[in-house]
Amino acid sequence: MAELLLSSPASSSASASASIVVSLSGASSRLPKKPASASASAQALPFPFHAASPSPSPSLRVSARSLHRLLPLSPRRNPSLLRGAFVSRSMGSAGAMCAASDAAQLRSAREDIKELLNTTFCHPILVRLGWHDAGTYDKNIEEWPQRGGANGSLRFEVELKHAANAGLVNALKLIQPIKDKYSGVTYADLFQLASATAIEEAGGPKIPMKYGRVDVTGPEQCPAERKLPDAGPPSPAQHLRDVFYRMGLDDKEIVALSGAHTLGRARPERSGWGKPETKYTKDGPGAPGGQSWTVQWLKFDNSYFKDIKEQKDEDLLVLPTDAVLLEDPSFKVYAEKYAEDQDAFFKDYAEAHAKLSNLGAKFDPPEGISLDGDIKAATPEPFVAAKYSSGEKKRELSDAMKQKIRAEYEAIGGSPDKPLKSNYFLNIMIVIAALAFLTSLLGN
Ligand code: HEM
Repeated sequence: MAELLLSSPASSSASASASIVVSLSGASSRLPKKPASASASAQALPFPFHAASPSPSPSLRVSARSLHRLLPLSPRRNPSLLRGAFVSRSMGSAGAMCAASDAAQLRSAREDIKELLNTTFCHPILVRLGWHDAGTYDKNIEEWPQRGGANGSLRFEVELKHAANAGLVNALKLIQPIKDKYSGVTYADLFQLASATAIEEAGGPKIPMKYGRVDVTGPEQCPAERKLPDAGPPSPAQHLRDVFYRMGLDDKEIVALSGAHTLGRARPERSGWGKPETKYTKDGPGAPGGQSWTVQWLKFDNSYFKDIKEQKDEDLLVLPTDAVLLEDPSFKVYAEKYAEDQDAFFKDYAEAHAKLSNLGAKFDPPEGISLDGDIKAATPEPFVAAKYSSGEKKRELSDAMKQKIRAEYEAIGGSPDKPLKSNYFLNIMIVIAALAFLTSLLGN
């Protein structure tokens, strides 16, 4: 019975051959310039990628040592890994798909993400990856996956080619070895796990995450383009509301989430925004270049709000959609508060990030999987119900199976944590006997 319920990995047949377009413009002033049009500045890069090919971005320089630690098999046993085939195999097919994630593998993947962060300083781009997968959500559409959101669709080339996602292929390349290592972790979960882990590892708040997101299976399920915000629209406040309200987020959440720009940089060759380099970015860490919003752009704190308020440093970036947070009366209340009170920012950010990460997601089990015991239904032990299984194939149940069994018990008001009381059966027997006795009396 247990085995029948277990979901098995599926695969899709999406094809791999195509190209990724990256915007290249020469914008370099402090006051950010509007991105040049994609058609004028686009350059096609080969897809699928190979690690041996010239890298499209210096941010892909992962040391052989750290890469080796992340790979599922040693290159000696699997020489194709040395040629970067792990990238083309999984990204190209984008079909190493599984229905939902496994808690033990998610925990292990989280450790690998920490290792990746420590060796490559890729915190910002992983946060942007999670946000861009989730931020396509449309609350007015009920059906999954048409409603968009955190469903792993950003792994497909068609969506990576959206102008708003310029550069994110680099994030995917960085975490693809981890995806390959854990068949029991979906892309949708991995993107959100990577983002939340990056925030936490950069010194940000603990985010109350849950997992179990189901992946879309093919590129035809990707959302339409232009679901994510522009950085320089004609009316920034109205534009932010149009986009974020569509996701079901409010003014407080817009301001809190914008605080993620405490991390990272804008690069003219990707988004068209920012300077090619500043005194804060010319030496890295990680790939040098770009223009950051804050001085310590790998540290998650409230300095973004202080810096966009002061706007004193020519080397720091302020996008039109950042500046408006201190101009619009409703946004300003929160932006001022966060500039003064980091604890308030951390609290609101953690809540808003968790909400963002769940947008549009379909969870299996429906209540989600907790990795840290903060989701009630996911508390794994004690699990007395497992002891009722019998037979030769008796073995410890997987976390995913325990979640499923727990949900079924709880749906009927019970709990798998408590042994069934023996008088439960006795009571049933007494009721049946009483009914039989009454029936025989009536019969006579
Ligand atoms: C409010 C509307 C937003 C706009 C208009 C916007 C726009 C941008 C732009 C233009 C970049 C530069 C990309 C590049 O050149 O590589 C960027 C980077 C970034 N964004 Fe946003 N963003 C918004 C909201 C968010 C949110 C909600 C988050 C996360 C919760 C976020 C996280 C980031 C991060 C971490 C980076 C740095 C990426 C890196 O260094 O590689 N952004 N954003």
